[in-house]
Amino acid sequence: MKPIYDHFLFGGDWNPEQWPEETWEHDIEMLEDAHINEVTINVFSWALLQPAEDRYDFTMLDKIVALLVKHDFNIVMATGTAALPGWMVRLHPEIIRTEQNGTRHVFGGRHNFCPTSPYFREASRALAAHVAERYTGTPGLVNWHVCNEYGGGGGLCYCDQCAESFRAWLKAKYGTVEALNQAWCANFWSHTITEWADVVPPVSYGDGIGDAKCVVSGLQMDYRRFQSQAQLACYKNERDAIREYDAVTPITTNLMGTFKDLDYFEWAKEMDVVSWDNYPGMDTPSSFTAMCHDLMRGIGGNKPFMLMEQTPSQQNWQHYNSLKRPGQMRAQSYQTIAHGADTIQFFQLRRSKGGCEKFHGAVIAHVGTNDTRVFRETAQLGGELESFGTRTLGTRNKSDVGIIFDWDNYWALEYTSGPTQDLKYVDQIHRYYEYFYNKNISVDMIPVDGDFSKYKVIAAPVLYMVKEGMKEKLEQFVKNGGTLITTFMSGIVDQSDNVHLGGYPGPLREMAGVWVEEIDALAPEQSNTVRFSDGKEYKCNLLCDLMHPEGAEVLATYESDFYAGMPAVTKNSYEKGHVYYVATQLEAAGLARVLDEATDEVSVSGVIAEETGLEITCRESENTRFYFVMNFTDEKQTLPASLAGMVDLITGEAAKKGDVMNKWDVKILQETL
Ligand code: GLA
Ligand code: ZN
Repeated sequence: MKPIYDHFLFGGDWNPEQWPEETWEHDIEMLEDAHINEVTINVFSWALLQPAEDRYDFTMLDKIVALLVKHDFNIVMATGTAALPGWMVRLHPEIIRTEQNGTRHVFGGRHNFCPTSPYFREASRALAAHVAERYTGTPGLVNWHVCNEYGGGGGLCYCDQCAESFRAWLKAKYGTVEALNQAWCANFWSHTITEWADVVPPVSYGDGIGDAKCVVSGLQMDYRRFQSQAQLACYKNERDAIREYDAVTPITTNLMGTFKDLDYFEWAKEMDVVSWDNYPGMDTPSSFTAMCHDLMRGIGGNKPFMLMEQTPSQQNWQHYNSLKRPGQMRAQSYQTIAHGADTIQFFQLRRSKGGCEKFHGAVIAHVGTNDTRVFRETAQLGGELESFGTRTLGTRNKSDVGIIFDWDNYWALEYTSGPTQDLKYVDQIHRYYEYFYNKNISVDMIPVDGDFSKYKVIAAPVLYMVKEGMKEKLEQFVKNGGTLITTFMSGIVDQSDNVHLGGYPGPLREMAGVWVEEIDALAPEQSNTVRFSDGKEYKCNLLCDLMHPEGAEVLATYESDFYAGMPAVTKNSYEKGHVYYVATQLEAAGLARVLDEATDEVSVSGVIAEETGLEITCRESENTRFYFVMNFTDEKQTLPASLAGMVDLITGEAAKKGDVMNKWDVKILQETL
C-alpha cells in the first residue's frame, strides 16, 4: 500500500500561543535535536483567531507557520474550533451544551458546543474555511486536523435545539408516529406518541433502573445514534469547508479508542486517515492497548493510522499519573506501530506554564533544557524512526480472526435494564481479544457489516443486538466453513432493542443449535463451575444461560445450583462450519480451552509457532515481514528460536538464539518473503 507520508512523522501538539514569541525558535531547535519533524498546531486558538464576531486575526498564526516553514517542519494544521471564545457564548448562549437535567453550560472548558446549533455550524465552518484558505499550499502541510476529540467534553447535548433536530431525524427515519410507536414499543408505560411534538430526548428519572437509563429503550438507542451523527455532521461541515480550498491533503480528527458516545465505524468512513489518542493508565494491560490500536485500525478498513497523541511520560487527568518507566514510552510507541500506526505524535511538545495541563508530560519540561530523561528517550526514539526511512510505512497487518465490535451493541447492552449491572461491553470484548493476544494471533476488529469472508474465525461476544441482515451474513459465513464463537446475552434484541421472540438466542438459535430458556445473574461473590467431558473444571460467573441443546454437541456443563448438568459450552456443526456458544463468563483458562479447540480445528495460529510471554505482532509488505517483538511482562523473556538469525531493524544486528529481552525491550525482526 502506498504510504500516506514519505517519511515517518514524529512530533505532536505544540502550543506556542501560550508562550512569548522569543521562546518559539528555541523550542523548534530543541525539537529538531530530538529528530522531531512535525508539529500539530492551532488546536485551541479560536479566541485568538477571531477576537470578535466580525474580525479575524491571523498575525500570530502566520508567524508560527513562517517559523515552521523556515525549519522545514511538517505541519498538522488544526481548524481551531475545539473550544469556544467567550464572546461567542455571551452573544449566542444557545450554542453551548445542555445536560440531561436541563442545566445549560456557561463559557469555559472545551468540546462544549451543542452539535446541532446552527450558529456553531456556521461559525466553525467559517473558521475552518478561513484557515484552509490561508494555509492551503503551505510547504510541509501534511494533514488537516478538524476540531479535537469530538464528544470529549463529557456527555450528549439535551437542549431544545437538539430536541427539535431529533424530531426531524425521527420523522425522516420512521415517517409516521405509528411506525415510531411500533419501533419504540411505546405502549409500554403510556409512551404512545400522538404528535411528533411530544417526542423529547431520553430522560432518566431513576424509575428503579438506575440513573443513566431511560425506560424507553428504543428512544435511548435512537438518541445516541442521532447525537453521534450530529457530531459527525459538525466534522463533515468543517471538512467540506477545507475541501473547497484544498483538494488533496488528508483530513482527520483525533478519536479516542473505545470511547462510547460516537460510532467510530460511521465516523471513519468520512475520514481520509484515522487518527487517535492513546492514553493507557498505569494498570492498563498491554492487551487492552493493543485491542484499541486494532480497533482504530479496524474502523478505517485496516489501513495504517496516525497516532495523533500519547504522552511522553505522565498524564494529569488520571487518578494517579505515574511516570512512564524508562523504556516504556519507546516500547508502547513500537506497539502502536506494530498494530498499524504510521506516525508517532505526542501531547505535548512543551509543558504548559499554567492551566490544568501544567503537570501533563511533555517533550520539553519546565526546566526548558534537553537534559532530561524524557527528552533523551524521545530523541532516541526519534533517531531510530528516522533511520527506518519509509520501510515500515504502508505495511499491513493480516488476520485470520475477526472480533465484532459494534457501537449499537455497546449502547444497547449498557443502557438496557438487564439481568446484571456488571456487564460491560468493552470488558467482554477484551476477554476474547486477550486470548488471541496471549497467543500472538493477529486480530482485526470488524464491524457487523464488514467482509466476513476474509476470516476463518469470528468472535462475536455478547452480540446482544442482532440487526437486520446480520443473521443472514453470519449464517453465510458459517455455512461457507467459518467458525463463529458467540456467548450469553447474544441474539436477544433487534435494532430497536425489542426482543426477537420465539426463544433466545433468536436469529442465532438455528445456527448455534441451542435454545436459551432463562438467564441467571450472579452477584460478584457468587460463582459456578463448568466441567468439560474430560473432567477438567473451570470457574464461571456474572451470567449463566440455562439452555437446551437443539442439535449442538455439549462440551461442558454446570456443576452446581439447580441447573447443574445443563450445558454451559456447546458446539454446533452448521453446514461446512461451526458455531461455539459460551453460555457464561468463563475464567480465562476455561475460555482458552474453548478457543484453543475452535482455532486449532481451522488451523489458526500465532505469528510464530512457539508459545512465549513476548508480544509478537507482524506488519508486512509484499516482500518483507516485520516481527515487532516486545516484552511487556515483568519477567525476562527469551527470544523464540524461530526468530533467531533475523536482522533487527533498530540495531542492524541479527538476533541470536537465546537472546534475553528485559521488560520494555523491543526488536523489529525482518524476514524476506
Ligand atoms: C486529549 C486532548 C489533548 C490533551 C490531552 C491530555 O487527548 O486531545 O488536548 O488535553 O488529552 O492527555
Ligand atoms: Zn444541543
